[in-house]
Amino acid sequence: MKTDEIREKYLSFYETKGHTRCESDVLVPTWDPSVLFTPAGMNPFKDHFLGKVKLDFTRATSSQKCLRTGDIDNVGRTSYHHTFFEMLGNFSVGEYFKEEAIGYAWEFITESLKLPKDRLWITVYLEDDEAFDMWRRIGLPEERISRWGEKENFWGPVGAEGPCGPCSELHIDLTPEGDTKGSLVNADSGQCIEIWNLVFIQYNANPDGTFVPLAARHVDTGMGFERVAAVMQSTNGFSDFSRPVSNYDTDVFSPIFAELEKLSGKKYAATLPGPGQTGQEKTDTAFRVIGDHIRTLSFSIADGIQPGNTDRNYVLRRILRRAVRYGRTLGFHEPFFFKL
Ligand code: SER
Repeated sequence: MKTDEIREKYLSFYETKGHTRCESDVLVPTWDPSVLFTPAGMNPFKDHFLGKVKLDFTRATSSQKCLRTGDIDNVGRTSYHHTFFEMLGNFSVGEYFKEEAIGYAWEFITESLKLPKDRLWITVYLEDDEAFDMWRRIGLPEERISRWGEKENFWGPVGAEGPCGPCSELHIDLTPEGDTKGSLVNADSGQCIEIWNLVFIQYNANPDGTFVPLAARHVDTGMGFERVAAVMQSTNGFSDFSRPVSNYDTDVFSPIFAELEKLSGKKYAATLPGPGQTGQEKTDTAFRVIGDHIRTLSFSIADGIQPGNTDRNYVLRRILRRAVRYGRTLGFHEPFFFKL
């Protein structure tokens, strides 16, 4: 399935469940001064969750352009980290809560996308018996559901004000045999990745770390678009897990890599850096850095953010420099980035 089809499948699935399809917001969050760039699908709905602004509808779905730089040092070194990505999401503003959020997610992932159930592992917040029981009722055996603390399963803004709450995540085992029995969940392994986060918003976090219960309860989910595409496309529709699954092995990146191969005369071979990197590993890392960063720069500039000397513009300039610096690894000594 092409990425355009995956995106459409998600949005139309949630439309059949009564959700209003919303356009992606821009990457410059003028409505939310707490962040430099839009980091998640929920941000455009923040004021609705807080009850400050009313929507004409209570169910929404979107594919949101997101930009995060927290993991930038990993971008290029792994198969699944990005600075720019799309987040597929469905949102309930004061209406449905855990039961529907979990039910819809399971139906979409197992019936619409047909991800293999026996590779899926669920996490819930430590004391969230409700979410645990709902997954059990859907038919998941207890050993597929594990409980985690705040770091992994309580989602909210870090050091800032904003809606937050316990979450439940879906992880997929990508090993050739799919037999790691959940041991790689939350282990920073490219062989078992989180693909969807379901957040049950109940509180507003204050910058001092305290929480205030909100007047209503909401749902905010975020699915990693490029990650799901990778699982589907790298495995040839789940038929072959023998090759490593990579976000860069999808139709999001293949046209960029084809052009980069043409411009540089080097071939992308999808290797990941090991200890004491080989020349090919360095080349492949550079392809991924440049492939990720050209998307970040393109979408940011299109949304009105130019590389510059201060604030978000400076962040962008640094991303641009990082990409160009990796261009040296591919042998570029003249401007090349604009050609992509
Ligand atoms: N807000 C959550 C996240 O960013 C889910 O959308 O992971």
